Amino acid sequence: MSERANIGWLAMSPMAGVSDSPGRIMSRRYGAHFSFTEFGGADYLAAGNQDTLKLYEFTPEERPIIFQIFGSDPDSIRKAVQILLPLEPDQLDLNMGCSVNRVAMKGAGAGLLRNPEKAGVLLEIMRKESNLPVSAKIRIGWDSDALNFLEVGRILEESGACALSVHGRTAAQGYRGLANHEPASLLAGELSIPVFGNGDIASYEQADAFRKSQGLAGVLIGRASIGNPFVFSPGCDVGPDQKLEAARVHLDLSLSFHGRQGLYIFRKHLSRYLDFLAPEERRRYLTETEPDTLFRALEQLQEQRALKL
Ligand SMILES: Cc1cc2nc3c(=O)[nH]c(=O)nc-3n(C[C@H](O)[C@H](O)[C@H](O)COP(=O)(O)O)c2cc1C
Repeated sequence: MSERANIGWLAMSPMAGVSDSPGRIMSRRYGAHFSFTEFGGADYLAAGNQDTLKLYEFTPEERPIIFQIFGSDPDSIRKAVQILLPLEPDQLDLNMGCSVNRVAMKGAGAGLLRNPEKAGVLLEIMRKESNLPVSAKIRIGWDSDALNFLEVGRILEESGACALSVHGRTAAQGYRGLANHEPASLLAGELSIPVFGNGDIASYEQADAFRKSQGLAGVLIGRASIGNPFVFSPGCDVGPDQKLEAARVHLDLSLSFHGRQGLYIFRKHLSRYLDFLAPEERRRYLTETEPDTLFRALEQLQEQRALKL
């Protein structure tokens, strides 16, 4: 097993287009213990795709940081690791959860659940090539007839995985139904490596209860953290002023990191930050196309609220 320092128990789950550097910074400022990048394709990295490489840019305050990649071709995985290493990540992670057809049907992401031996080989390549701790993020099986999470977990542990994250749904489920938290608990009992649970956790308190009741090393929070970094702190029921303050900081980070495009990327978060507004009023902010105008509009909203107090 590759050695992994204890880096804490709570983090933002990797989410494409959401857990970018600005999203990760926000999660850390509000209490998350470590950072996970969104996934990047090993094939794209190996082919020198600069947009994919940008997914892995980060600032020191995001450390410890785990770089997640997806792929199924050993050569691409090896090259991708070589390309990422100079950025000095703290840990690497193999995505075994993405159920989107263009990924899973090519044998990558959740497709690897159907070929756990291959996943073990890829993980070992990542480990040997990087000399870093390497983990994997899995679903509980391909579908309800193939709930092979225990077999997958054992193979990954034997291949030297330092930790495992478990999204409690099958690939066939996508995001339907409720997440099943029992498999993470069973894996935690079965394996000697840390197991992180994931799926439908919506507050710090729920995350803490989840890990304690199921014997988990920690918890990853995904969708509930979009536009809601407060979820990583106890008592996350915050008011409009704190939401507006965080929204402005997040917008600023997003524009600095992505340029003008940062406005559109930030909209996913903005909708939740402004959930205290009536839908028609919120739409005005969500359809704004000028970064400066949006920034000023948020500032004005904050000032108006302060005057009313
Ligand atoms: C928009 C979006 C993008 C995602 N991208 C990734 C990804 O890049 N890597 C990954 O392992 N999981 C990804 N996921 C899955 C989440 O990490 C998480 O496992 C899933 O959303 C369940 O957790 P939740 O109920 O807390 O959201 C993504 C989920 C969403 C909603």
